[in-house]
Amino acid sequence: MAEDLGHVLDVDDETYVRDIICRKLSADGYTCDQAENAEAALSMLSQGSYECVLSDINMPGMDGIELLRNIRLADRDVAVIMVTGAPDLDGALEAMRLGAHDHLSKPLNLGHLSLTVERAIEKKRLVEENREYQRDLESKVTERTRQLHEANEELRKLFMGSIKALAQALEAKDEYTQGHSERVAEIAVGIGKYLSLEERDVQDIWLAGLLHDIGKIGVRESVLNKPGKLDADEWESIQKHPVLAERILAPIEELSEVISIVRHHHERFDGTGYPDGISGSGVPLGARILSVADAYDALTSKRPYRDALSVKEALGVLDDASGTQFDPVIVRAFMSSTELHMPASETLSRGGNLSSLQDAKYAHGAPPGPFALRPTDQS
Ligand SMILES: [Fe+2]
Ligand SMILES: [Fe+2]
Repeated sequence: MAEDLGHVLDVDDETYVRDIICRKLSADGYTCDQAENAEAALSMLSQGSYECVLSDINMPGMDGIELLRNIRLADRDVAVIMVTGAPDLDGALEAMRLGAHDHLSKPLNLGHLSLTVERAIEKKRLVEENREYQRDLESKVTERTRQLHEANEELRKLFMGSIKALAQALEAKDEYTQGHSERVAEIAVGIGKYLSLEERDVQDIWLAGLLHDIGKIGVRESVLNKPGKLDADEWESIQKHPVLAERILAPIEELSEVISIVRHHHERFDGTGYPDGISGSGVPLGARILSVADAYDALTSKRPYRDALSVKEALGVLDDASGTQFDPVIVRAFMSSTELHMPASETLSRGGNLSSLQDAKYAHGAPPGPFALRPTDQS
């Protein structure tokens, strides 16, 4: 059985023209149906599957141009060839403008007829193949993008898991700072959000909060947990933890901003902090925020050498050190954001009082300054 080259619908009000066309196309290997007017053609198109429509332009009732318009309105991909009475250049041009693939003039050249139908069907198939290719490509791109997002998300989770494990490793070593890193991270994020920082910066501040004391892994436990006065060597050893943290985290490229915050979380606004003694806006904003969050959590936590302070007392201490140890803008933001959630009169269950901090301050020889927390206070 010969190959079917395609399904063609011939629309013409003259029976003999339809017969001639269909006989020729059938002989050439096409399946050819006939419609005697445009309405019948639309009905057949809605029921059958055609690759090509050959339509006369001048027909009683709906003419060929209107038929073409209806076919395109129905969004059918079928190739349309208009058959125009000679000379009907305007009709042919209008048909091409409306999306006809080609046009033929009467009287028909039958050899030309087959060639035109073949070309129109080929063009239609190419358009369909191209569209299918595009669709396939789009779905492949969508699928690959989804897989990449999944892989990234997986990596991010692994990465975050490692970070938390690092923070927990530190807290297992220092019994007095359990939960400290997570609390500092949360407080710092609260300040960052209050200041309407970019999502990305808030994320960096959160990570920096989790990791800020990771360098203490390199500090002896006897120093970290020492209840008494720190000697000069011990004090120096504790002061190394921001730089040690930087060395630990340096291999992780994604953490460059976070590392900078971690390195500088013990700088002071007046420039008397460590490790670099930078001041004011020279201290990264994230570090200035972390510094306040760190001190607040340390003050409201129990330490080997003192009880915890109440919220009100801790806020009072921060206020006293605003402009010297801390950036006043950050202290104000923290106070405002804290007041939004917690009345200043409310105390944390950890309790505490200001005099115990002052006792600790003088008893353990903290560095000079209007507000002198021990290194492990703001730790
Ligand atoms: Fe800390
Ligand atoms: Fe620290």
